[in-house]
Parts: sequence; C-alpha cells; structure tokens
Amino acid sequence: MTGTNTSVEPAPTPASNEEALDQWSQVFMNTYGRPQRHLVQGRGATVTDVDGNEYVDMLAGIAVNSLGHAHPALIDAVATQTSTLGHISNFFGSTAALETANTLRERFGDDTAKVFFCNSGGEANEAAFKLARLTGRKKVLAAINGFHGRTMGALSLTGQPAKREPFAPLVPGVEYYRYGDIDHLRELVEQAPEDTAAIFLEPIQGETGVIPAPEGFLQAVRELCDEYGILMVVDEVQTGVGRTGAFFAHTASAVRPDIVTMAKGLAGGLPIGAVIARGEVAALFTPGAHGTTFGGNPIACAAANAVLGIVDDEFCAAVKEIGEGLVRDVDKLVGVDHVRGRGLMLGVVLEEPVAKAAVSTGLMHGVILNAPTDNVIRLTPPLVITDAELERAVAAIGATLDECLGELR
Ligand SMILES: Cc1ncc(COP(=O)(O)O)c(C=O)c1O
Repeated sequence: MTGTNTSVEPAPTPASNEEALDQWSQVFMNTYGRPQRHLVQGRGATVTDVDGNEYVDMLAGIAVNSLGHAHPALIDAVATQTSTLGHISNFFGSTAALETANTLRERFGDDTAKVFFCNSGGEANEAAFKLARLTGRKKVLAAINGFHGRTMGALSLTGQPAKREPFAPLVPGVEYYRYGDIDHLRELVEQAPEDTAAIFLEPIQGETGVIPAPEGFLQAVRELCDEYGILMVVDEVQTGVGRTGAFFAHTASAVRPDIVTMAKGLAGGLPIGAVIARGEVAALFTPGAHGTTFGGNPIACAAANAVLGIVDDEFCAAVKEIGEGLVRDVDKLVGVDHVRGRGLMLGVVLEEPVAKAAVSTGLMHGVILNAPTDNVIRLTPPLVITDAELERAVAAIGATLDECLGELR
C-alpha cells in the first residue's frame, strides 16, 4: 500500500554553507537576499550551521522562538497533537484551539473578549483592520515608521513609504500620525471624529529600531479613543507573550485596548496569529465575513498551549530580570551609546552607524544579531536563554563592536 512508509529519506544536507547558499538564489525569489548561514540544528539559544559553527541566537527567528530551539515541551505538544488530530477545517472544533483561546482571554482579562486565529502577524492586523471597517467608520490612523506587516491591508497600515510605494495603490483611508505625538493624533482624529474607526499602535516599535512609546502615550491614546468612540488597536505581534517582561507590553501602561493582535512568539516557532477583541467589536465578524483555512489549526494551537503553559507571571518576571542584566552588561561595551527597550526586546544604540557590519562580523564571533537600522542592533533572544549563553553573547558582541569600530578608526 502506498503512503504507509514511515521512513522518509531526508533531503540531502548540503556539504557547506557555501554550497547551500549558492543554490539559494536559483531556487527562491529574492525577497530576503542571500541567507547569512545554512543552519542545521538548534538547542536552547544556540544554533549550529552546516559547517559545524555554533552561534548564540540573539534574534530567535525575529522574536519568535520564545522557548528557544527544540524545547521538550514544544516537541511533546506538537508530536502528541500531530499523532492525535492534525489539521481540521473551521467547520469543526478542537480542544487545542479552545484551550489557546481560553488562555488568551484569561490573560487579556476581559470576559467579553473573543478570539480569531490566523497564521501570522500581518494576517492578524488584516483581521483587525477589517473589524475596524465593520464599525461603519472608514478612517484608520497608524504611526509613521510603524510596522504591521506586508499583506496589502497590513502594508497600508505600515507607516513607511518606501515599503508601501512600490505596491500602490493601497487600501485607502489610512492616515499616519507621529508616534508618541498625542497632539498630532488628536488633530488627525478631529478632522473626522465621527468617521475615525481605529488607531493602531505598537507599544514598542520593533522594526524601526526598538523605540518604546513615550511615557503616558498609551494612556493618552486610550483617553482619545474613549472620547470619540474609536477602537484602540495594539499590535503585540512582536511585544507579546512575555517578550517585554510582561505577558502583554500594554499592561505596563495600565490600559486595556479594544483589540490586540499577536503572532511571532505565541506558538514558539509554529505559524499562528491571533486577534483578541472585547466588547461590541468582538461580535462584528459574522459567518462568511472573514476566515482562513489554517486558522485555529490544532497543531499550531497545541504549540501555543505549550508556550502559554510556561510563560506565566513568574516566567515574565524572570524575563524582565534577565533583560535588566543584559542591558547592564551591554551598556558597558565600547561603542554603545545606550540600550533601550524592555525585557528581552532591546535596541542597542551605537555611537557609530556600524550595526549592519556588526551583523556579519557577529557571525564570525559566534553570535546572531540583527540591525533594524544603521545604528541599532536589536536583541530578541529566546526567553529561556541561559546565563552561560548570555555571557557568550555579550563577549561576542563586545568583540564584534571592537572589530567594527577598529575598522572605522
Ligand atoms: C509589530 C509587528 N506587526 C506585524 C508584523 C508582521 O508579522 P508577520 O511577519 O508574521 O506577518 C511584525 C513583523 O515583524 C511586527 O513586528
């Protein structure tokens, strides 16, 4: 009988980074450029490439691998779910999806909250955008330099003209406010107070260089939204699931958004996105209005349940503490102006614009870094990173900066 063979031959692993990466440009569209290395294994916060080099992973798949690589709880949850019930359509329900939704509602802390599952951050923001339009109001406000994803709706919310312009015309009705400038936001709202549906914001702008909202901004947005009946949509795609030392970053401002979008770290590396909405807006989607084949997929939800079972209040407090220690250590390095961000979502602001060079030099020193801008290195390691891995990472970042700055002098 065909289809019963359980021993599938794995694809041959290329012999070296060079061989693997040479194939890349023939096989894939050029959306990401040439990969930096061909990785073959990960454990905790350490990954290994095909040449056997090890790296401390200070990026975690861009804030995704919350439990690191190959965490036993994640392996067990995925294996158990896959061998019990894999994909089903949204014509049916599963215990895994129910559990994820119940936990998210509980963490959000509002009995009226309802959840929609999708597969990515961009899709979560698409869904939030569509919910906002179902209020009957048309105008949506999003931050200059904000990032909400690459699909046409999420891209329309992304306040970066260089990313949007090649794909114009985008979804109409979006206007952009200066992040942190409540007066500007109010001015835009008051041009059409009855027609403004939603204000989107990231509690910390990740892709723009880890820029936290100024003190009091989220509270001021909440008040403005309350004044005019506008939805406050907080994009926790990058900041959520303990990343900033609290389950949701917005709780540090003691506000409750109307809609929260999530993805990245939620299932620890499996694709998932989620929208949590509360109050009347949670009832705006009716059958047929929105959906996605994989939304609520039991395997992705089982992975999320494994993550949510570990990322509790105590775990988040530990993330906060680890982040504070990392800030202290990195702040002392030569070439570092200051470190911003919270928990394990940090932006290392450099004295010189060598961040991009530091990414490639870092690999030579055994650390995976990321440079959202020329003068900022972003650190978003697995939340379970050990002291020994952190020590190796800080030493490698120090050696990397010495080398990059030495080349300038
Ligand atoms: C704040 C924020 N929103 C949305 C997205 C888009 O998420 P995805 O790449 O999963 O579509 C990202 C991705 O970096 C993000 O940082």
